[in-house]
Amino acid sequence: MMEELESLSRLIGRTPLLRLRRLPPRGREVHLKLEYTNPGGSHKDRIAYYIIRDAVERGLVGEGGYVVESSSGNTATAVAWISSRLGLRPLLILEPKVSEARETALRLLGAETMRVEREEEQFQRAQELAEELGGVFLNQFENEANVRAHYETTGPEVLEQMEGDLDAFVMGIGTGGTIVGVGRRLKEELGQVRVVGVVPRGSALLHGEPRHEDSIGGLSKALRPELYHRNREYVDEVVEVSQATAIEAVRRLAALEGLLVGPSTGAAVHTALKVAEELGEGSRVVTIAADSLFRYPELLTI
Ligand SMILES: Cc1ncc(COP(=O)(O)O)c(C=O)c1O
Repeated sequence: MMEELESLSRLIGRTPLLRLRRLPPRGREVHLKLEYTNPGGSHKDRIAYYIIRDAVERGLVGEGGYVVESSSGNTATAVAWISSRLGLRPLLILEPKVSEARETALRLLGAETMRVEREEEQFQRAQELAEELGGVFLNQFENEANVRAHYETTGPEVLEQMEGDLDAFVMGIGTGGTIVGVGRRLKEELGQVRVVGVVPRGSALLHGEPRHEDSIGGLSKALRPELYHRNREYVDEVVEVSQATAIEAVRRLAALEGLLVGPSTGAAVHTALKVAEELGEGSRVVTIAADSLFRYPELLTI
């Protein structure tokens, strides 16, 4: 398994950084790191790899053992393909509303899946099943290996690709792993850098309780994504973006930049453009394209 772990580490990350040409205001640079070029289609390959590797190295799971996670999205895909390749058994606990297509894709990747009836049961069910089956519960919302993946890989890549010269980093908050991991690395290396998080409009993260029904795939409506709260000293501010604004930005990225990105990227780019405007002429802002629009067939009708 160690050999396969090494070969996986060469497949994940080192994603390209693309400079937006037409959307940024005059005299400002906005760069987009294309995380959907990871083999599993998102930045979650990095954290699934780190979390699984950590569990293997600590002897929490071995050949043929169960790897359990509560996720129906990008993390689920990342866990499915990476653990299958390592000879582990992925078991994914899905939310009730997940599409048949997404469940089929996870099964094609070798995962077992189980849907819960109510969303609130998802996390606890995963925890219980991991215990019953003698496997490991990856728990991306609380596992520090999630932050470490971005601190050790995404952050240094951004620094290298920008040649150490950037003024702000913008990222949607789901677990918070990306923003705090990259944010910490950038602040340590650069000192002065503005780190801006993005959540859906009305998110409980800002208001203490959800105020609207706005939903942007992958971004947090929860009060306490644990990793974010533990490490929020690395985030300077969090802004809200409506679902409609995120989708509008997705359309503009397609029409003007030739990119098909998911809605969380629309929200992040919309915010990055505003931050670049505020920071003024000569500013350099980086954000992340977490996944591609192909992940959201329901949006391909727009
Ligand atoms: C599409 C998408 N964008 C952004 C995020 C946020 O990333 P993080 O969990 O590192 O905060 C996620 C997380 O699931 C996601 O799936």
